[in-house]
Amino acid sequence: MENQNTQNYCLVIFGAKGDLARRKLLPALYHLEKLKKLNNHFRIIGVARATWNKHDYLLIVKKSLQHFLNEKINDLIWKNLSVRFDFCNLDVTELHQFSQLKKIICNTNSLIINYFATPSNLFEPICAGLTSIQLNSMNSRIIIEKPIGNSLYTSNLINEKIGQYFQESQIFRIDHYLGKETLLNLPYLRFSNSILYNIWNKENIDHIQITLSEKVGIEGRWNYFNQTGQIRDMVQNHLLQILTIITMSQPNNLTADNIRNEKVKILKSLRYMENQNFNKNIVIGQYKHGLFNGKILPGYTQENKITECSNIETFVAIKMFIDNMQWKNVPFYVRTGKRLSKKSSKIVLVFKKPINNLFNHVAQLSNKLIIRIEPNEGFELEIFNKVPQVTHKNILFNTKFNFSYDQSFPNYKLIGAYERLLLECINGNQSLFVRRDEIEESWKWIDSIILLLKNNNIILHKYQSGSNGPSSAKDLIEVDNRFWI
Ligand code: BG6
Repeated sequence: MENQNTQNYCLVIFGAKGDLARRKLLPALYHLEKLKKLNNHFRIIGVARATWNKHDYLLIVKKSLQHFLNEKINDLIWKNLSVRFDFCNLDVTELHQFSQLKKIICNTNSLIINYFATPSNLFEPICAGLTSIQLNSMNSRIIIEKPIGNSLYTSNLINEKIGQYFQESQIFRIDHYLGKETLLNLPYLRFSNSILYNIWNKENIDHIQITLSEKVGIEGRWNYFNQTGQIRDMVQNHLLQILTIITMSQPNNLTADNIRNEKVKILKSLRYMENQNFNKNIVIGQYKHGLFNGKILPGYTQENKITECSNIETFVAIKMFIDNMQWKNVPFYVRTGKRLSKKSSKIVLVFKKPINNLFNHVAQLSNKLIIRIEPNEGFELEIFNKVPQVTHKNILFNTKFNFSYDQSFPNYKLIGAYERLLLECINGNQSLFVRRDEIEESWKWIDSIILLLKNNNIILHKYQSGSNGPSSAKDLIEVDNRFWI
């Protein structure tokens, strides 16, 4: 969106008091202001139950920015941003109160983006409320946050209800990983480079690893997390979305539906696990207290003052398969956990060894492509070369070809995921948002895993905060003679 654009925009944030709005959305709006991506007709209305006036709300906004922005607030940017805000005190379960919101919006011809930064049980009342003030017309869009339900059944209920008020083309289901630059680059990397395109298959790839390791714990979100767990919190959405982007076939073109059609095909091809051997294909864990950088970190159950017991997993590692022509029998080892030693999200493709190996004495001859989602966004390709010694010896050295955004694009600053996704929604581009059938297919698979976990009494391994997770996660891959990278 350019500044000279004269279209009126209105972003309505439901759940304006909440963690998501303060932690992610407000900093994203600040950055968009800084980048001059918000035109002069862009307004922001915070909606929550609070007897605040606009001035009170602005104090909260500023406080949140001071806390969650990783930079000092610039006076001029704040001046330009703050004039855009308004506040509406509204209990979304009281239909008649929505007229209040309509009064504040005034110009209902604006393009209105309604961001539901609330628990999903409030999605329906908000939709009903918006409809009661005719704000479900085609110039109104909604952005809904994960988790959409906590099973196929509950997500269907939510999607059904929303679908009674808004058409699929108005619904933007956000998965913020889809706004990360390295993931956006994946289709370009895969489909524009013949050198990669031609080897991206079971004939050439031995296995693929995905790691989403987090340093943070549950950050005070006990009530949410203790009913959710890491499988629903990170695998059902972010991890499966990454998997689909790495493995989908080339879409006919880059339209939202064509891309999403290819992703759905992958989700439909996920192999369902069986009782037999289930425990060999999954490891779950929960962090206990630990010492990290001289600081004592509490264990998961100590994060809650009321109870000291919970069987919820904060770590999971899974070995999975995609049963289609391209990936048949290629193992995908995926893992994600909280309170691990470092923040690192990456994908590793390990290629098969040469069939005729001249260098038999070198055991490890697998090339690797390591895609760093974050930090240090970029990728590296590991290639073997002879060590240039004076005397001729067949000594190979694993050299790295490194691409990093910092070095290759020093004049471009990577834009944050929420910033990008807000812009995409404003522009009406759904390709970076999740379609209903994607959500359904991923829940089907996740439901099956959760049921197997229950039925098989899988051990919950305790791991130390600040460690690399339970040691059994190593065994999961090492029994196959492979290793986590
Ligand atoms: C969120 C999860 O969707 O993603 C959080 O609810 C998790 O539990 C977060 O910490 C991770 O996102 P990122 O971008 O920090 O890797």
